[in-house]
Amino acid sequence: MSEKVTKIGVLTSGGDSPGMNAAIRAVVRTGLYHKLEVYGIMRGYNGMIEDDIFKMESRSVANIIQRGGTILKTARSKDFYNEDGRKRAFDILQKRGINGLVVIGGDGSFTGAYKLSREFGIPCVGIPGTIDKDLYGTDFTIGFDTAVNTAVESIDKIRDTADSHDRLFIVEVMGRHAGYIALHSGIATGAENILMPEINTTLDDMVASLSEQEKRKKLVNLVVVAEGYQPDPNNPDLRGAAEVARIVQEKLKGLETRLTILGHIQRGGPPSCMDRFIASRMGYHAVECLLEGRHNVMVGILNNNMHYTPLEIAIREKQRIGEDWMNIVKILAS
Ligand code: F6P
Repeated sequence: MSEKVTKIGVLTSGGDSPGMNAAIRAVVRTGLYHKLEVYGIMRGYNGMIEDDIFKMESRSVANIIQRGGTILKTARSKDFYNEDGRKRAFDILQKRGINGLVVIGGDGSFTGAYKLSREFGIPCVGIPGTIDKDLYGTDFTIGFDTAVNTAVESIDKIRDTADSHDRLFIVEVMGRHAGYIALHSGIATGAENILMPEINTTLDDMVASLSEQEKRKKLVNLVVVAEGYQPDPNNPDLRGAAEVARIVQEKLKGLETRLTILGHIQRGGPPSCMDRFIASRMGYHAVECLLEGRHNVMVGILNNNMHYTPLEIAIREKQRIGEDWMNIVKILAS
């Protein structure tokens, strides 16, 4: 499909993230500025398949820039995984004359967009919206900054009580298969240990350092664990902080240990200035991409410049956390 883009749809898909509303607002208002018709698609790809779509005006996005969640709601659409579901979605788009799409979400959402564009020629542009910050081709994803600040605020509070009781606290943060929330929140709260899926830290090493610290009467310890961390590489089903706490408690019976799983609190709340700012910038550029014929890309920001990564690559490649980070953690928390 190489016709001029005149009617665009916007949707949010996958896990919501603070700042998605700011991105929707930017897409709608930039689209209207260019005299496009803009349609909101509810509940991710589900709304596309079920024709739950409505025309958006400038007032549709008034007073939302400061709100967490997403006014378009979101879902992980099972029907969209198969071609039949995507064909139904395409038929709906055709019926409505929608000939350009902005998809706000993570790699699962972009996989859907990529397939839709390949199979049916619908031009798509992705905006990285995920608290996990696990996407290639951008320094920022919408929601990460807010989520990590929520984690920091919570961990600071845990440190107060840990310190009062001389306890070891093991705190789990989100991130799915990525350790960015753990790395950033752990460094920012002075965590003594950070466990992430990307770094091969064995629990034996950590237990040894904890018991050495116990001897030195350093009894307060914060361990930040990414939910995707696997304590036993031979047993990939064992994941996260509960497993870490169980193993540590078994090995260090003298140490008083408590476990906190921060969970979905990290996904909510008003977006930070940073998230509103990047969402506004990315939303604007996503529409410009559709108009300029720069299709099937993810908009990102690298070194403070806009950067456009083909969806195919954004899905395939991963950002990496280097081993050298662990040195910093170790030195700063000694
Ligand atoms: O991808 C965002 C995220 O919050 C991950 O960090 C987490 O693993 C997952 O979504 C949780 O998904 P759900 O809300 O479906 O339980």
